[in-house]
Amino acid sequence: MLTISAIKADVGSIGGHTRPSEAMLQSARDHLQKALESGLLTDYDVTFTGDDICLLMIHRQGSGAAAIHNLAWDTLKAAADIAKAQGLYGAGQDLLKDAPSGNVRGAGPGAAEITFDETAAERPAEPFMIFTADKCGPGAFNFPLWAVFTSPLYCAGLMMPKMRPGFTFTVIDMEYPHGDRIIRLNTPEEHLDLALLLRDENRFGIQAIHARKYPHQQVVSVSTDRLHTIAGEYKGKDDPVMIIRTQGIFPAPEEVVMPWVNVPYVAGDARGSHTMPIMPVPINTPVTGPYAQPIVAAAAYSVNKEGKLSERVDVFANPVWDLARQKAQQKAEWMRQQGFFGAAMLPMQELEYSAFRNALEALEARFSLRE
Ligand code: 13P
Ligand code: MG
Ligand code: MG
Repeated sequence: MLTISAIKADVGSIGGHTRPSEAMLQSARDHLQKALESGLLTDYDVTFTGDDICLLMIHRQGSGAAAIHNLAWDTLKAAADIAKAQGLYGAGQDLLKDAPSGNVRGAGPGAAEITFDETAAERPAEPFMIFTADKCGPGAFNFPLWAVFTSPLYCAGLMMPKMRPGFTFTVIDMEYPHGDRIIRLNTPEEHLDLALLLRDENRFGIQAIHARKYPHQQVVSVSTDRLHTIAGEYKGKDDPVMIIRTQGIFPAPEEVVMPWVNVPYVAGDARGSHTMPIMPVPINTPVTGPYAQPIVAAAAYSVNKEGKLSERVDVFANPVWDLARQKAQQKAEWMRQQGFFGAAMLPMQELEYSAFRNALEALEARFSLRE
């Protein structure tokens, strides 16, 4: 078995929430290189999207393995220490606990993982993609995944015999604090029930998708998690990361990227508190757009039976995506003209920065009933 683990966090960035420093990235590469030499990893890659560092790790430890999660935590912690020494903004921002108990879930970083049998006859080759998004929540992946895995409008390949039996979606209630409250829905027959839930991107998020014809084959993993409530305080949503395996029994990369042409409005942006369109960008892009516009990058890889990665292909770097970027910019301007009210800003309970809520509470206290 081989496992793809993508663990992503913001542990400090230059001049605001833009990007991590070169020294932080080099430290992350050095840590993973050591793990490669020790035999823990078979391969790795380190990228950034906005202010988030993404650690891509290939290994044989399985999903949720303590050795891998501890490696990711130590790597991010070392990068956070560098950020602190360099005086960067938000050093250690996503490391919400002192030390996790062998799993980074709930401790701040986002984790997407898929374990698969590299010898399975239905997967003679293993192409996959990593989507990394910044300035938004995991709900940003809901619509693109629903579109690709349920609608031939986006993925004509769904009509072919290998995909026609459909997919099983695992959706988590991100607002339920006491445990993982999940539902499984089978498409195509339940695609409207799925849409009914995904309508609410702040509460329900897709966590996993499996093939119904090959139930042991997981095609998608998203870092979707319960909202972090640490010591009674809401700590917001993670900027998400997603793994999608492609080709053959799964949608092709060209189908997978199709819905991103829509540049949908998502929750995120400045202080995680606005509604703005998400822009497809090249990998390693800093966030410097107006109002910290949400961005998404996509890297395509192949991995061989020994767990060795190919070089990466930067999917959204191609100029064919320039038009989508222009569209996102135009949609962003339209929304910004709406300022702070109504559809432009998230409802009070979704605002990521509690200072907004505290300010409102202070005003609430000043209301009185007219005599
Ligand atoms: P991050 O969640 O990427 O750190 O961004 C926070 C923010 O408030 C940007 O305006
Ligand atoms: Mg940040
Ligand atoms: Mg971020």
